[in-house]
Amino acid sequence: MKVLIATDKPFAKVAVDGIRKEIEAAGYELALLEKYTEKAQLLDAVKDANAIIIRSDIIDAQVLDAAKELKIVVRAGAGYDNVDLEAATAHGVCVMNTPGQNSNAVAELALGMMVYAARNFFNGTSGTELMGKKLGIHAYGNVGRNVARIAKGFGMEIYAYDAFCPADVIEKDGVKALTSADELYQTCDVVSLHIPATPETKKSINYALLKQMPKGAMLVNTARKEVINEDELIKLMEDRPDFKYLTDIMPAANDKFTELFAGRYFSTPKKMGAQTAEANINAGIAAATQIVGFFKDGCEKFRVNK
Ligand code: 3PG
Repeated sequence: MKVLIATDKPFAKVAVDGIRKEIEAAGYELALLEKYTEKAQLLDAVKDANAIIIRSDIIDAQVLDAAKELKIVVRAGAGYDNVDLEAATAHGVCVMNTPGQNSNAVAELALGMMVYAARNFFNGTSGTELMGKKLGIHAYGNVGRNVARIAKGFGMEIYAYDAFCPADVIEKDGVKALTSADELYQTCDVVSLHIPATPETKKSINYALLKQMPKGAMLVNTARKEVINEDELIKLMEDRPDFKYLTDIMPAANDKFTELFAGRYFSTPKKMGAQTAEANINAGIAAATQIVGFFKDGCEKFRVNK
């Protein structure tokens, strides 16, 4: 049995070592493809793989066609918008994610970005504090919950809106559940995005929604760039010189944002929310364990395709 780790953005070495231990203990072989620059390298590496562990790596019909022996793909992480689920099902391939395993890392980065912006990007001028500010958590999943837990320590007033999570689940964490996205954006000084990229959410963060935020507003995106309507965000930031945007997913129009909004726009060069040794170990080893459970016991917990 051959398990391939295919990661354009590699795990920390300690995580790869942990995955190797898990895979070899099961009697399987581990292959590693990291920092590949051409899709052809991926197409070649998947040829004889029975299982693949990925991060944000694209698994489309072409990759699935090339992977003749493939039975399972595990996305070591939460969002699986990078995998063509229908094509995987058509190829008889099981797709799983590892929910919750990297969420603290992403949440810590979201709070770090809030501090960075509130303190004027550490430029030495007088900034503001997070204590007493209203934080809106847009989608209360694993990352949203961790953001709430950490933000409590900062003394923020915390609100959340989630179309699917019941209000009582949110409120038992001491977070005020709101009933619409509009209400969340009207109420909160800072909004932290944690919605997945789906056909329904794509470009849903738009001018009409953002314009409702109070003066001095800040939007923090550690989710996906696809959920932002970039043209409308640019227009909004042109109309609202008080508005700050911090993102861990570089927008397609990064050059434009950088040029127009110096001092109130920041993007990481590469998505790094989950780039910690701890998150890599948690998600990577969970992926390995899920693969072993799938082959040895037929366990399909965390399967995300039909
Ligand atoms: C996720 O969906 O788990 C996060 O966005 C992290 O993605 P990454 O593994 O590509 O860093």
